[in-house]
Amino acid sequence: MTARLPTFVDFFAGSGLVTQGAKHACIPVWSNDICPKKAAIYTANHGNDHFHLGSIEKVSGTSIPQGDIVWASFPCQDLSLAGKMGGLAASRSGLFWEWLRVLDEMPVKPSVIALENVVGLLAANGGGDFRLLYQALRDRSYKVGPMLLDARLWVPQSRPRVFVVAAQDHIDTTALDDHGPNWLHPDAVLKAIAPLDDIVFWAMPRPQKRPKTLTDLIDWDAPVFNDERAAALISLTAAKHRELLDKLPPNRRAAFPGYRRTRQGKQVLELRFDDLSGCLRTAEGGSSCQFILLHAAGEWKARKITSREAALLMGAPRSYKLSFSYNESYNAMGDAVVVPVVKHLVDHLLVPLSQAHAKRTPKAVSRVRLSA
Ligand SMILES: C[S@@+](CC[C@H](N)C(=O)[O-])C[C@H]1O[C@@H](n2cnc3c(N)ncnc32)[C@H](O)[C@@H]1O
Repeated sequence: MTARLPTFVDFFAGSGLVTQGAKHACIPVWSNDICPKKAAIYTANHGNDHFHLGSIEKVSGTSIPQGDIVWASFPCQDLSLAGKMGGLAASRSGLFWEWLRVLDEMPVKPSVIALENVVGLLAANGGGDFRLLYQALRDRSYKVGPMLLDARLWVPQSRPRVFVVAAQDHIDTTALDDHGPNWLHPDAVLKAIAPLDDIVFWAMPRPQKRPKTLTDLIDWDAPVFNDERAAALISLTAAKHRELLDKLPPNRRAAFPGYRRTRQGKQVLELRFDDLSGCLRTAEGGSSCQFILLHAAGEWKARKITSREAALLMGAPRSYKLSFSYNESYNAMGDAVVVPVVKHLVDHLLVPLSQAHAKRTPKAVSRVRLSA
């Protein structure tokens, strides 16, 4: 007999990249987001039979189908350095508490929960916010383990993010717990968990070598800026970066991404030279637009990263439907979770934990029946 796939609930689902990373192994049964533009991208890719448009504040947990695995990528603005760091007490990242209310209202609790956010979650309010989140899950009888994963292990984008995975206390986690720090627990995680004594150190294999570089993903035929605009942008590069650019052999095809920043009152274009994109952002994060300098056949061109390149940098398949609007697509991708990172968690941790729960549940049910 084949086991049924676990059901999957995706809170704050945005444009659907979490569901994209889970649906090969789970059945999406419910998801939500407040943003109609992201909802349009979600439903174009995953159908509109389970998506709920509206604020989490209006959601009742009793109206949600049972989810074996629940994912919540709650808003990060109050936890990111680009934001004001108001933390879990602030209006947007504070929607975590609304999500917790919904969880409390769900008649059957998920066996497995995954929360995702920016690294600032570990340090906000001196680590106090992370401890509150951890305690909220412990109080609801979940074992809790945080980890930090940088998407650069899967895609050519630097994108470190915190993932907190929680499993119901009764689940046998022996095979998935290393009982001590491993590659998922760099210093930022160790510092946050130092005051806590019953953390789970989840174990997962490292991904295989990242197959693509940024240069591999570039659309060399996409429209570029006119010469004047390109020259104005290139003129913002720092002298030490210009020296590196000038050393390129004329026939070498290469791409250098960068964000425009103000340093000591002056605009500069800060480039990367590691063939990785910087972390994609949304307009709300401030200075969101990532530019790219392209070198081919001895010539320099410049443009913004295209929305399709942004989607590929998020690990979405080339066929993933985006909006006709550049800004809507780019913002949706900047806010999302990298697909193969979700897939790695789903395959190596979330589904195995859900299966460990399912193995135990029938026995528990039959015990109840026998004793009745
Ligand atoms: C970090 S993003 C999650 C992105 C998503 N997981 C993805 O992969 O595309 C947070 C999301 O929360 C949504 N959001 C903000 N306030 C909300 C609210 N009150 N109710 C529901 N969703 C909200 C935003 O529109 C945004 O898509």
